[in-house]
Amino acid sequence: MATPELSLREVTLEDAKLLFDWANDPDTRRHSFSSGAIEWREHRHWLQDKLHDPLCRFYIVEHAGAPVGQVRFDLKSVDAAAVISISLDPKRRGEGLGTAAICAGVARLRQDTDVVVIHAFIKQTNAASLRVFQKAGFRDLRAKPDAQVARLSLELMPAPR
Ligand SMILES: CC(C)(COP(=O)(O)OP(=O)(O)OC[C@H]1O[C@@H](n2cnc3c(N)ncnc32)[C@H](O)[C@@H]1OP(=O)(O)O)[C@@H](O)C(=O)NCCC(=O)NCCS
Repeated sequence: MATPELSLREVTLEDAKLLFDWANDPDTRRHSFSSGAIEWREHRHWLQDKLHDPLCRFYIVEHAGAPVGQVRFDLKSVDAAAVISISLDPKRRGEGLGTAAICAGVARLRQDTDVVVIHAFIKQTNAASLRVFQKAGFRDLRAKPDAQVARLSLELMPAPR
């Protein structure tokens, strides 16, 4: 499958409804670590906090000008570790966009920060997610893998500036 051309733009408060709908998709909830339904007010507060957090990098992924998903990095500091979170519009899954979205997000993070390692925490039952992160180069670097939650990591070389 050819690699889809994706672009990223920063999330704004106007994306609240879009992100809310994607986050409440049953498959997304099932694969999350807190799997209950999300309330609108709680979601708005959460998004406002994320948008004001200097250690959060949050992007809408676009394909042919239309939003298809989101990728978010929560950083420990701008030169240390980050945790990645990704989800696609439920209608756009199964097209090979997941790996491309991760790669686009990682490239952007390398440009904008000196983060040296990115971790993805994934339930072992989430086969599609395990696969897309592995295809994007993430590996389990721990001596003893966890039985229920995989931590796949990508070590980064600094990008030329
Ligand atoms: C994870 C996610 C981004 C992947 O999206 P995607 O790129 O459309 O994924 P696909 O459905 O194309 O599946 C990716 C790969 O996994 C494989 N796969 C999917 N479901 C599978 C299953 N149940 N068992 C085995 N392999 C499976 C696909 O065959 C595909 O393999 P290929 O690339 O070799 O063809 C998307 O499913 C999503 O948004 N899920 C909800 C949120 C989520 O789980 N986020 C990650 C939290 S860590």
